[in-house]
Amino acid sequence: MPHLRSARFQVHQNLVGSLPAPSRTSLPERPAFQRALLRWYETHQRSLPWRKNGNPYRILVSEFMLQQTRVETVIPYYERFLKRFPSLRDLAKAPLQEVLKAWAGLGYYARARNLHEAAKAIVREWGGKIPRTKEELLLLPGFGPYTAGAVASLAFHQPVPALDGNAKRVLGRLFPEQCDFSRMSAKKQADEFLAGWIPPRRAADFNQALMDLGAMVCIPSSPRCTACPVFRFCATKGKIPKKKRVVRKVREEIWAVALVEKDGKFLLHRKEGRGLLSGLWQFPSVAVEKNQGKRGNSQDPGKLLEKYLREDFGLETRIKTSLPEQEHLFTHIHALMKPYLGSLAGTRPSFPNSGSLRWVGASAFSRYPISTAMCKIAALVGS
Ligand code: ADE
Repeated sequence: MPHLRSARFQVHQNLVGSLPAPSRTSLPERPAFQRALLRWYETHQRSLPWRKNGNPYRILVSEFMLQQTRVETVIPYYERFLKRFPSLRDLAKAPLQEVLKAWAGLGYYARARNLHEAAKAIVREWGGKIPRTKEELLLLPGFGPYTAGAVASLAFHQPVPALDGNAKRVLGRLFPEQCDFSRMSAKKQADEFLAGWIPPRRAADFNQALMDLGAMVCIPSSPRCTACPVFRFCATKGKIPKKKRVVRKVREEIWAVALVEKDGKFLLHRKEGRGLLSGLWQFPSVAVEKNQGKRGNSQDPGKLLEKYLREDFGLETRIKTSLPEQEHLFTHIHALMKPYLGSLAGTRPSFPNSGSLRWVGASAFSRYPISTAMCKIAALVGS
């Protein structure tokens, strides 16, 4: 049984009459549309953990996690993250490594870094209170228009849009002329149009109702129009033009990965900078050219790893046995990982990069933030 907040559902009458400047043609239908959508939401809304008590911090965390990840994937990470960091201040004072560890496996780690930066900025600049308006939220690290709108409307009931992919699809079908999200140039027009449709005092329910309608009824192919509470307002009426399939360009990369062993422990390295997987711990890796061997520039992965470990970390290693290859698909990179076992032959003392290295036993890998791709390599040596 979906969870209901009955008192707030009694205010349908209040929806009428207090709307910002409307577009003339839609005025008579607007309250009827709002009523139909909100009534449907009363009985059909998804019971999602971040909707339970309206706590702004919990909503903020959920919106960062949901930025590029599906609801079902997010839920277990979300629950664990909040157990580890129950309040904004807990998050703000935690070391980044701890935050990345709690995020490990969810991908797109820039979100975790941004969330951590945002929590620190809220403590530093707002006394620990999350700002309430979209304009203020936009000043925080990691907040784009979507996340700012989502937190302002879902946590603070500000009448601003929060359009996730599902809500955009719903509006694009209901009002294709005004809400054509396929054109960047039409975005402003859609925002203005929608702003007039969000009922003051019910912004959170209205925005989430659009998301839920898209997730459960107005689904990508074969929408369930007979179950749609706003079918009578819909311009498309289920006649969805066939979409051109967008083929995402994926780059193929080959990585040689070193499992260097010393006294039963393996070498881990924390990736610096701001690129893919930076801040996470990994087994030392180098990209290998695909056309190795051509024009005499043979790239023996083992030799490349030895050179990398010598030049970047001052480690003399012997890279020997190859282990089974592993694959990982990131959004735009397909990585073929070639793992090699190796041993340490010597070290140069006080080498500049040695601070980002650790010798870690397989049973302790889980204490480090390691990406899903590198977990596949860790599993080869028994973690
Ligand atoms: N996607 C982004 N934000 C969401 C939310 N609050 N509920 C469901 N799906 C979402």
